[in-house]
Amino acid sequence: MKLLVLLALVGLASAAVYQHSLTKITSKRSKMIKAGTWPAYLKYKEFLRLAKTKTANFQSVGQKVNDYEDLEYVGNITIGTPAQTFLVILDTGSANLWVPDTTCGAGGGGSDCPDYCSDETFCEFLCDQSCCSSKKSLPAAPKANACSTKHKFDSSKSSTYQKDGTSWNIQYGTGSASGFQGLDTIAFGDAGTTQLTVPKTTFGQATSIASFFAQDPIDGILGLAFTSLAVNNVVPPLINAINQNLLDKPLFTVYLQEKGAVDNVPGGVYTYGAVDTQNCGAVIAYQKLSSATYYQFKMDAIGVGSYSSSTGWDVISDTGTSFIGGPQDVTDALAKAVGATYDDNYGTYFADCKSSFTGVTVTIGGKVYTISSKQVLVDAGNGQCEFAFFPFDFGGYGPAWILGDPFIRQYCQVYNIGEKSIGFAPANGA
Ligand SMILES: *[C@@H]1O[C@H](CO)[C@@H](O)[C@H](O)[C@H]1NC(C)=O
Repeated sequence: MKLLVLLALVGLASAAVYQHSLTKITSKRSKMIKAGTWPAYLKYKEFLRLAKTKTANFQSVGQKVNDYEDLEYVGNITIGTPAQTFLVILDTGSANLWVPDTTCGAGGGGSDCPDYCSDETFCEFLCDQSCCSSKKSLPAAPKANACSTKHKFDSSKSSTYQKDGTSWNIQYGTGSASGFQGLDTIAFGDAGTTQLTVPKTTFGQATSIASFFAQDPIDGILGLAFTSLAVNNVVPPLINAINQNLLDKPLFTVYLQEKGAVDNVPGGVYTYGAVDTQNCGAVIAYQKLSSATYYQFKMDAIGVGSYSSSTGWDVISDTGTSFIGGPQDVTDALAKAVGATYDDNYGTYFADCKSSFTGVTVTIGGKVYTISSKQVLVDAGNGQCEFAFFPFDFGGYGPAWILGDPFIRQYCQVYNIGEKSIGFAPANGA
């Protein structure tokens, strides 16, 4: 992974602009759809959702209701001195950093091997292998826990570590992560490269992580949204970097590449401190954020073919969501306009991969942005494609739409934290 200072870009030896290369992986969701296990998993999640709605504390502000099962772009960060490396999702749809602590799983308990793990088809995708029934019959199977395959942070080995100790808990769709907070130096990128290094950053040290993380390649999550979205109001690493004047400009650019269902290939670049002029064309326009929590703003209209709706909604730009989510009456109509049909079992729209349409148009601030058909027709195996939209209901408040990776691959996103705005620029090669 390369991380370099763009000296040429800003022409200063002291330039504070950093590039962070990402790796594209195949999402767990995509693997499960191809393996046919997705419908059963969805049913299980629905069961959990209904069970949870009965308890009062289900909706917590700023927390994802999904499980990162569709995560596709990952990158390394380091924590501490000397550096300890962690693979994380760089997520503009959340605002906390957490990684497993060296004590992760130690307090274990049976909760690390939930009921669904006894189903082998689930187990393969969602649980630590030692949970799976075929292995259960083995004598002295090691105690299962999702932390076992992860890199863990050891504060005793870091000379810059400071104690905090405040506890935290983040709920996801089928489980949670929790632990305590600490302070240390966080650096974006790989050790030994030119990193954006942010001293005295508060982060979460997880002592327990939900078992669905076991089969994810990531160790943790690095949220890039605003402090107001963060659990415990912890200042997120990039906001901390800006507060410490470590960047040329208080903004970053995200460039994601379309790579199909492939694992472990270079997949994009985050540029901290500048608009990325290497991978992106000129910025078409900036739109003021309607809420600086998520990167939330107004979308005027969306359409494809002969269909268009100009109801107007609040939307968020979210690198951690691989599709585009919106109100079901609209996603149904968009799907109908391209000949896609909703499959209840899979909870997704399927389309003929050969469908031809000129693209989905999204209108923001009076400007029309076109997402090409190749970005929204995603191979699902057996000659079928998914139409990359999903019905989404935040529950009466918050954003009505999530603009995920298909939009971001088509248009680089300039997340302008200082100006509380977001800019869109054509992505090279999209
Ligand atoms: C992350 O770091 C590990 C360990 O240094 C390395 O093996 C891996 O290739 C890196 N991954 C990415 C996505 O750069």
